[in-house]
Amino acid sequence: VPTLSIGSFTLESGATLPSVSVQYEHWGPAPADGNGTILVCHALTGSAHAAGPADDPGWWQGMIGPGRALDTDRYAVICANFLGGCYGTTGPTTIRAETGMPYGPDFPKVTVRDMVRVQHALLETLGISRLLAVIGGSLGGMQALEWAACYPEDVAAAIPIGCGLAHSAWAIGLNETARRAIMQDPMWQEGRYSAQPAQGLALARMVAMISYRSAPSFESRFGRRLQSGAAPPQFEVESYLHYQGRKLVDRFDANTYLTITHAMDAHDLARNRPPLVEALSRNPVRVLAVGIDSDALYPVAEQREVAAMFPYGTYAEIHSPHGHDGFLIELDQLTALVRQFLGDA
Ligand code: COA
Repeated sequence: VPTLSIGSFTLESGATLPSVSVQYEHWGPAPADGNGTILVCHALTGSAHAAGPADDPGWWQGMIGPGRALDTDRYAVICANFLGGCYGTTGPTTIRAETGMPYGPDFPKVTVRDMVRVQHALLETLGISRLLAVIGGSLGGMQALEWAACYPEDVAAAIPIGCGLAHSAWAIGLNETARRAIMQDPMWQEGRYSAQPAQGLALARMVAMISYRSAPSFESRFGRRLQSGAAPPQFEVESYLHYQGRKLVDRFDANTYLTITHAMDAHDLARNRPPLVEALSRNPVRVLAVGIDSDALYPVAEQREVAAMFPYGTYAEIHSPHGHDGFLIELDQLTALVRQFLGDA
């Protein structure tokens, strides 16, 4: 998997990271000016591995490939692990040259805007000056919005899915609950842990997983059924959530979870900009804001607001019982919307 250094990078906060490396993957023709390039942005615990071979599929496997929504016969598709991540791009797990130790809790606060500026630097280094589209769900959608606002001349279209103009009190509250779960684990050690605060990170994931779904989807999947073979008796939904918690502990990092959820909470497209309406009034980017009708974390009113804010904004809705995770599950509907928007239908 390619990793590219973009050198030192000064964050929105004013802090400077002396050296930033970005891990990315690409599919279809090599991303370059002259090839229509589509940037995919990933969500909280995602990675650059959005697609892969059958024995190593990516998190958006059904969206990327020949004839798919992001058609690799037509477009170069690229996805990079974001700044602050733990999948190859500089973040809390990166070893600092100065100390020989990981940044851990000393990794500076980053913002979604910082992530997007790092992606822009990556694309510049790769010789790509203009994107056909930038697309992502959840935190990926927040990045798509920042792209449209920061680089309106460099991106023709943005497709933010399941996110709003700013992180809501509801979403911040859920993130803070998850962070507290991590920090109250005795293994946390102020972030200087030698072994992950596994109980806390698992609990953070369990809370998050509930917010990614909906009451009807849990009801139809699990109801009040008991997990077979569990002693003492356990509901299926309990078993499911514990399993999902353990699974995240095996593949993620607690300091990274804090860093990225803080970045999400700071998301506010209006931040440090003139009144947003004025800032976007001449924005030339075509925006397709996609909502999921059962999304309790980022309700559809937020995506309607996104569409209304951009002069070339439109709104479309996915119908699903699965809540926020609809952007990972309802790929047939999403494919139809994206193809139509890109003019491929
Ligand atoms: N007890 C224990 N484990 C159970 C279970 C139970 N009662 N019921 C299901 N599982 C396990 C399955 O064995 C399976 O394990 P595996 O992943 O190791 O193969 C896993 O749970 C399936 O997860 P599930 O949520 O049921 O998958 P899905 O098909 O409903 O959803 C995805 C598909 C892509 C949404 C899901 O796999 C995923 O990636 N979720 C991540 C959520 C996320 O991060 N969302 C981002 C929001 S920003």
